[in-house]
Amino acid sequence: MEEHLTVGRVAELAAVSVRTLHHYDEIGLVQPSARTAAGYRAYAAGEVERLREVLAYRRLGFGLREIADLVDDPNTDAVAHLHRLRGLLLEQRDRAAATVTAIDHELERRAMGIRTTPEEQLKVFGAELYEVIGSAYPATRRTEPRIAEQVWAALGDARTVLNVGAGTGSYEPPGREVTAVEPSAVMRALRPAGAAPCVDASGERLPFADQSFDAAMAFSTIHHWQDPIAGLREMRRVARRVVVFTHDASDVGWRNRFWLSRDYLPEVAAMVAGRPSVDRLAAAIGARLEPVLIPWDCADGFFEAYWRRPEAYLEEHVRRAVSVWTRVGPEAEQRAVTNLRADLASGRWADRNPELVALDAAELGLRLLIA
Ligand SMILES: C[S@@+](CC[C@H](N)C(=O)[O-])C[C@H]1O[C@@H](n2cnc3c(N)ncnc32)[C@H](O)[C@@H]1O
Repeated sequence: MEEHLTVGRVAELAAVSVRTLHHYDEIGLVQPSARTAAGYRAYAAGEVERLREVLAYRRLGFGLREIADLVDDPNTDAVAHLHRLRGLLLEQRDRAAATVTAIDHELERRAMGIRTTPEEQLKVFGAELYEVIGSAYPATRRTEPRIAEQVWAALGDARTVLNVGAGTGSYEPPGREVTAVEPSAVMRALRPAGAAPCVDASGERLPFADQSFDAAMAFSTIHHWQDPIAGLREMRRVARRVVVFTHDASDVGWRNRFWLSRDYLPEVAAMVAGRPSVDRLAAAIGARLEPVLIPWDCADGFFEAYWRRPEAYLEEHVRRAVSVWTRVGPEAEQRAVTNLRADLASGRWADRNPELVALDAAELGLRLLIA
């Protein structure tokens, strides 16, 4: 018979309270499979292993719902979790060390009577956006098979594919030789075990020779690039074919068509102001444009994904996996969520958007650029 550890012993070893373990059991996160003769919960080895993963993700700041998604992911085994946790912890350690160094530096300067400028003070925390929000990403961001098919078809017969701004690799095509490029260490650490090799670089400066890939792809990333046109030209330089999934930032029609930005989050307009239009982006590399429809049950939780499932935006973990919500700031976010919640309860949302329930897919300005 398999050996079990009692709830008290597990709590003692893991330095958590028995109450915490009871709570994890009640919410289905870590459920012991046995009871002792006296009726105490008892954990088998596999359950202890799962608890270890849960506690490690918790220590890294993940919420319980996100952790449930992570530990229930059928594509990630215990070894893959260990690799991912190791990467995230090393990243956290490096960031803490860098912050300590910066603080020491500032203390020395203050001791010498030198004041640091506001810019210098903020540099200590000036992480790239995805260094901050990346850990929340896997909860809802995954491959949407219908959109993936469209992207992969656009890659044609390319055998070698460069995926720029690859994140966790949701749209990396199977059956081809993929190389990923991703500047965020947090995102790189979240790539599943066995994912394509990943290089630390940015789209604007790709460390590859001219024409070294059959195709280069970029999915839902160029709106983060400092210079998307330079990045697209870089992709064109290193690959014979370029496929980019993005949205038209300048399309007022798009913002007005999507009820979330139109009625609840008008801040999005200011956020995208000044970005090159999709026509300008396409012209920079001689690309043609192909519309991408968003299925009503889209599996990838990007900003527009829940256009027919408005309740989803009330969920914290849904919002945390989309950079827009972090960029607009907590005040705008709270206002939008409060108003949406009230409109859903009163029926006002349904009254304003009667046409959506009958749609299976929506055209909200998402485009493939194919060159
Ligand atoms: C919304 S995520 C998309 C990730 C992935 N392509 C996917 O579809 O799941 C955006 C990614 O772009 C990356 N990124 C940000 N700036 C970048 C740049 N200048 N060059 C390349 N990637 C960048 C971020 O770190 C992040 O991983």
